[in-house]
Amino acid sequence: PSEPYDAVIIGGGPGGYVAAIKAAQLGLRTVCIEKRGALGGTCLNIGCIPSKAMLHNSHIYHQTQHDLKKRGIDVDTVTLNLPTMLKAKEDAVTALTKGIETLFRQNKVDYIKGTASFISPTKIAVKLNDGGETEVDGKNIIIATGSDVTPFPGGAIEIDEKQIVSSTGALELQEVPKKMVVIGGGIIGLEMGSVWSRLGAEVTVVEFLGGIGGAGIDEETAKQFQKILAKQGLKFKLNTKVLSADKQDGKVFVKTESAKGGKEETLEADVVLVAVGRRPVTTGLNLENIGVEVDSKGRIVIDDQYNTSVKGIRCIGDVTFGPMLAHKAEEEGIAAVEHIKAGHGHVNYGAIPSVVYTHPEVAWVGKTEQELKAAGVQYKLGKFPFLANSRAKTVSDTDGQVKFIVEKETDRILGVHIIGPNAGEMIAEAVLAVEYGASAEDVGRTSHAHPTLSEAFKESALQAYCGKAIHF
Ligand code: FAD
Ligand code: NAI
Repeated sequence: PSEPYDAVIIGGGPGGYVAAIKAAQLGLRTVCIEKRGALGGTCLNIGCIPSKAMLHNSHIYHQTQHDLKKRGIDVDTVTLNLPTMLKAKEDAVTALTKGIETLFRQNKVDYIKGTASFISPTKIAVKLNDGGETEVDGKNIIIATGSDVTPFPGGAIEIDEKQIVSSTGALELQEVPKKMVVIGGGIIGLEMGSVWSRLGAEVTVVEFLGGIGGAGIDEETAKQFQKILAKQGLKFKLNTKVLSADKQDGKVFVKTESAKGGKEETLEADVVLVAVGRRPVTTGLNLENIGVEVDSKGRIVIDDQYNTSVKGIRCIGDVTFGPMLAHKAEEEGIAAVEHIKAGHGHVNYGAIPSVVYTHPEVAWVGKTEQELKAAGVQYKLGKFPFLANSRAKTVSDTDGQVKFIVEKETDRILGVHIIGPNAGEMIAEAVLAVEYGASAEDVGRTSHAHPTLSEAFKESALQAYCGKAIHF
């Protein structure tokens, strides 16, 4: 039997692969076990990366069709070559997942392709993808097995990944559906709904709640966002519950009723996307037998040092608490490894950004207005519309605003909510400001290059702290 590893990482997604690289960099002998056959997890293989490739290229297609003429660019015929667009997406995925294998080699992380299952708290059996089995011993183990699609409750809708798809199938439709029904107006529904709407599908989003954008979005922002998407052609049915979806004669019939009950309706679709959330993956790990505690939602229970209920076994990413985001999983991976190596490590959960990669993008960090109201916190607002920003005007991309929420008494930034071009990049400045405990005045007095979109950020801060922006 070989020497036990200092760190065994189960799962090669953003949480697991980053933890593995960091552990090796800190001098720990490290192995990462991944069953998918490729590194990068959900994010690189079937999530963040392929969806952003499709979002970007579908945006260019849509813009070429509908927007170039008024910019003085006449294009004769615009045709979609979907196979090439899908191939471009695949190429991005392959390049990036292979890139992680290179990083593993450079950092001397061992990589086992196979499915891990606990034999004891320090011993793991791995069913190898190429056949056979091996065993791995670890002084420290990190579970980073991520999440997968939540099936429609009660088994009323069966995903076949062709006509009734999850995000995975929605990333590889071989034809643009004429009509698409999206169940769930959260981030996946809005991003993938945008892709297929831009490529020509008539998209209807059915959402149980009264607003879109999923958990954590600021309500005012969600309302503005919905208006902008509606202008782009997406249809919304809010406060509406999906009951069933049945395939018949090449179509899918989606039965809905009002969330309060009654008012039934049937929507016809060529393709239905089920996007009602994701759930933790723990099946086959044999957690019950070694005593790792899991909560009622299937999440592995951890303390503030990422320890599970079993000593020596830690857990990070989508399979445990918190938002299911790649960068959150990565931060936890680093912190968990630092706990192993140095006894301390930290993630500031108040400063994790969220981004929806539609056009315009929506991005936020920190508290929403509704959260602060509920907590009885006194706050001031700053708002600056992109319509009044010179760069947005010059590039004819003026939908949206930057909104600052700051503590009334101290001027400290509590939340920033942006809808607008490049919001996903701009939010980094807000995250840094929150991380450093900045005030709105700090940002309002910081020079921002002219003419840039980020001037809207500065002006919004200015308005929050002294009541007046310069250009609006
Ligand atoms: P995962 O990425 O799920 O990785 C876990 C890995 O563990 C998997 O590869 C799995 O095969 C492996 N595994 C599981 N069990 C075992 C086992 N027993 N043995 C061996 N290996 C095992 N997040 C963002 O931040 N930005 C985005 O733009 C974004 N876009 C998304 C788009 C879509 C369509 C989806 C579905 C998700 C998106 N996400 C995005 C969420 C993001 O993908 C996840 O938050 C992130 O991948 C979580 O990382 P993780 O390492 O915890 O888990
Ligand atoms: P989600 O939780 O964001 O949204 C699901 C939506 O479906 C909710 O608004 C919910 O009210 C609604 N819903 C649930 N059941 C319903 C029903 N029966 N009928 C109608 N509506 C119903 O989940 P989603 O969009 O599947 O995404 C999963 C996770 O993936 C997100 O939590 C997010 O963290 C991550 N993700 C992140 C992205 C990003 O960062 N850009 C992109 C895509 C996914």
